[in-house]
Amino acid sequence: MEAVFGLLVMIAGVSHGMLTSSCDAREDGCQCYGALGGTVYLQLTDTTVSELTFKKDPTGVTTEILRMRRNKMIIADSIKARSEFFMNNKTFRMDNTERTDSDEYLLETFHSNGSSMATRRLHLFIEGLETSCDAREDGSQCYGALGGTVYLQLMTDATRYDELSFYKDSTGAKTEILKMKKGKRVITYTPIIDRVHFFINNGTFRLNNTRRNDSGEYLLTKYDSEGKSSGTRGLQLFIEAPVSSPQLSSECLSHGEMRVSCSSEGDGPQYSWTLDGQTLSNTDAPPDNKTNTITLKKGLSGDLTCTVRNNINRNTVSRRISHCPGLIYVNCTLSNGTKISEWVITLCVESATVATVTEAPTSKTSTEHSVEISSWAGSGFNVFVYFQLAEVFILLTICLGSYLFYKKKTCPQEQDDGE
Ligand SMILES: *[C@@H]1O[C@H](CO)[C@@H](O)[C@H](O)[C@H]1NC(C)=O
Ligand SMILES: *[C@@H]1O[C@H](CO)[C@@H](O)[C@H](O)[C@H]1NC(C)=O
Ligand SMILES: *[C@@H]1O[C@H](CO)[C@@H](O)[C@H](O)[C@H]1NC(C)=O
Repeated sequence: MEAVFGLLVMIAGVSHGMLTSSCDAREDGCQCYGALGGTVYLQLTDTTVSELTFKKDPTGVTTEILRMRRNKMIIADSIKARSEFFMNNKTFRMDNTERTDSDEYLLETFHSNGSSMATRRLHLFIEGLETSCDAREDGSQCYGALGGTVYLQLMTDATRYDELSFYKDSTGAKTEILKMKKGKRVITYTPIIDRVHFFINNGTFRLNNTRRNDSGEYLLTKYDSEGKSSGTRGLQLFIEAPVSSPQLSSECLSHGEMRVSCSSEGDGPQYSWTLDGQTLSNTDAPPDNKTNTITLKKGLSGDLTCTVRNNINRNTVSRRISHCPGLIYVNCTLSNGTKISEWVITLCVESATVATVTEAPTSKTSTEHSVEISSWAGSGFNVFVYFQLAEVFILLTICLGSYLFYKKKTCPQEQDDGE
């Protein structure tokens, strides 16, 4: 049986990767750029400023995003779930950016007496990822980010050819994308004319604002001056969603192990882990490959990094983790006057095994059968803790009862589960 506490052990986190950008927006009129679906960090103002309002401000309609007054902070519900404001460096983080995040923003700062200090504008541009691929070989495999731009180099110089046809071949049905005739210099783009461009000088085909159904097999046929085919080459295009900045969550299991999960949106994410820069070995963290979850052995701590990658990009998140507790402090007086006052790993049953050891035990005299668990330093007891306390109390009572009844073995020994 695993007694599981949803105890969050993580303290501070940073994430970085190809989809992450940061921008110093402390000047008026700054232009900041973020990748679609990625994370953008905006340093809004100097660290000394403590009162501010940050608004989305397209001409006419103003929407408040963030308000900070006397160290109290309110983030608009519309963006709360995917953003965070760091008070210490006045940086606003926005995750999983959307096209509609591209906008004009207005920042107003205030003096501590509430009077306005300054007003600044910032323009945020959210753009799709760009990828490029050399597709001059037959059978090339190319990857494009969903919603982004993909460059396919089809040949070194298209001006050398008399006639070219580039088309999509989906189960026998050909859709011509581009046709070029040297003599007449005719280029037709169909049916996605608004999203494609062909650079004749370097033979590069550009596709914007990619969609999933752009994935597929493409063929390029060259013709000689008589209009006879002089060969066809193919390429496979895969349009995939980039992986977003991963989120880490953790929980303590019984016996001091820690289960950590790393999750990310995107197509075909693959996860890898390091602890203090070292790849985690299977013995430190038996991997659960399907669920991107690892279980760290008891006592491990340090900087844990989860990297998620797919064919498009990679992203990393690191967190400082401290080891999970595996002990509880029991301080009780039995009715015969004997004090039990020690750190125990398990008390009577397995389910009562999860607690923490973060501070020296306190030395209060306790009343009969009372059990103290010290101390969840600052993290706050939750319902489970009270439940477990009650359980320990009841079990101690049973232990004592059994002892008095049988007058044989001592309680902790009798009930120890062998840890
Ligand atoms: C081809 O030319 C265009 C426009 O000058 C440029 O954006 C693109 O990067 C070039 N591609 C290659 C493969 O050189
Ligand atoms: C995870 O994958 C590794 C290597 O592919 C394999 O050795 C290990 O048994 C897998 N673990 C689980 C729990 O499936
Ligand atoms: C009180 O009970 C405990 C076991 O619960 C036993 O170990 C201890 O010796 C007893 N003390 C006295 C003074 O009888």
